[in-house]
Amino acid sequence: MIKPTVSILISGRGSNMEALASACDSKVIPANVGVVISNIADAPGLDRAAGFGIPTAVVPHAGRSKAAFEADLQAILKHYKTDIICLAGFMRILSADFVNLWEGRILNIHPSLLPDFAGTNVYARTLAAGVRESGCTVHRVTAEVDSGDILVQSRVPVRAGDTESTLAERILQAEHVAYPQALAMLVSQLAAKPHPERKVS
Ligand code: GAR
Repeated sequence: MIKPTVSILISGRGSNMEALASACDSKVIPANVGVVISNIADAPGLDRAAGFGIPTAVVPHAGRSKAAFEADLQAILKHYKTDIICLAGFMRILSADFVNLWEGRILNIHPSLLPDFAGTNVYARTLAAGVRESGCTVHRVTAEVDSGDILVQSRVPVRAGDTESTLAERILQAEHVAYPQALAMLVSQLAAKPHPERKVS
């Protein structure tokens, strides 16, 4: 069976990228990592990816159209024969046209129990709401932000005295387990079904 190729889009630290790459590297997930792409040139995750021997690329978003940005992303993803895209702390919103090209094949991780606290400023809003529980969600990406069907959700407590950073750290530990689980689910669904773009020379 052909192993699918997973490419990972990041904007920063890259700890979820590392969790996904480790799971593929150790064969917990039967997939290869194609390329790690960042829209931020000095994202620390690029060095982490290089440490795994994963090719990296930078596609800046600033100062040009979303269409041009996404055309460059698409060319690199195709070059590395990508079947699945994982957004791992990738802080750009993809257009409906791009998402539709990859229908059902883009995953995202978000640090809340969606549909609660979609969008930005998640930890502050979670603490301000006074909820006792939070967590993370891995979902398929659709044209609407932070929606799309949910593959895995993992819950963590919100403790008295939590700050944004203590809560973020607790959720992050859950993310590093949840994201590989969700990717394994998608890989098992798509393993025998490479992306149609792969047939285009
Ligand atoms: C993670 O907490 C992820 O859930 C969040 O960014 C962080 C990236 O950390 N993503 C979002 O907020 C997306 N809306 P990482 O770079 O160490 O993986």
